[in-house]
Amino acid sequence: MRILFVGDAVGRSGREAVAASLPKLREALRIDLAVVNAENASHGFGLAPDMAAAMFAAGADVITLGNHAWDRKEIIPYIAENPRLLRPLNYPPGTPGAGSVVVEVPGGRRALVLQAMGRLYMDALDCPFRGTAQELAKYRLGGTVAAIVVDFHAEASSEKMAFGHSFDGQVSLVVGTHTHCPSADHQILPRGTAFQSDAGMSGDYDSVIGMAKDAATMRFWRKMPGERLAPAEGEATVCGVFVETDDATGLALRIEPVRVGGRLAQTMPAG
Ligand SMILES: [Fe+2]
Ligand SMILES: [Fe+2]
Repeated sequence: MRILFVGDAVGRSGREAVAASLPKLREALRIDLAVVNAENASHGFGLAPDMAAAMFAAGADVITLGNHAWDRKEIIPYIAENPRLLRPLNYPPGTPGAGSVVVEVPGGRRALVLQAMGRLYMDALDCPFRGTAQELAKYRLGGTVAAIVVDFHAEASSEKMAFGHSFDGQVSLVVGTHTHCPSADHQILPRGTAFQSDAGMSGDYDSVIGMAKDAATMRFWRKMPGERLAPAEGEATVCGVFVETDDATGLALRIEPVRVGGRLAQTMPAG
């Protein structure tokens, strides 16, 4: 299976770049399954229903959120009706929406997409490790599902690497989101799970993690509330990872980073 995961689309610049790039990336890389994190699509905070609909229309099979899941309240009824929009599975029981979904992929295959959120320097949620293990116990990689994609939304690279190793051999891909900086540690772990600690954001990198740099920088100089943060509006770099898996085992054959447009060094998987 050919899988594309795209990291946090930030603001108008990010979401428009993702919408414009997705059809091209899907075609160029012959993508079977595309997952996009869009927790920052709405002016940096949350996701509005019309933006989610546009992202799905552009070719996202599944959209994931994160700690900004509820910043736009209108998403609450929408997530209840749209199972392909995920929020982290380790929110408390009773939280709207779901943390995982099984989708049909061309060729009669099925894929599980799941999101969990880390706890180091993040809100105190239920345990993402135990929650993920419980969810994975319902499926068999290479059996009931041909691939399993996990978005681990977390701040600390230590927690992300520990999470990757915890599920090595049980899922096709563990990719981090939330830090908004692409990491260069993409690899296939010893038991066959593709891993990258962070996909990076899809946004303007002449910024502070996607937000206009002047106001965001002053927050560090002056420890007092300053200007409202707003997304940087320059050309976005669409960042993500491409993974190819073996349908028989569900394990990864290769993982390569994707960086298209904007300021970052460009990279595209070779065919
Ligand atoms: Fe984010
Ligand atoms: Fe986040």
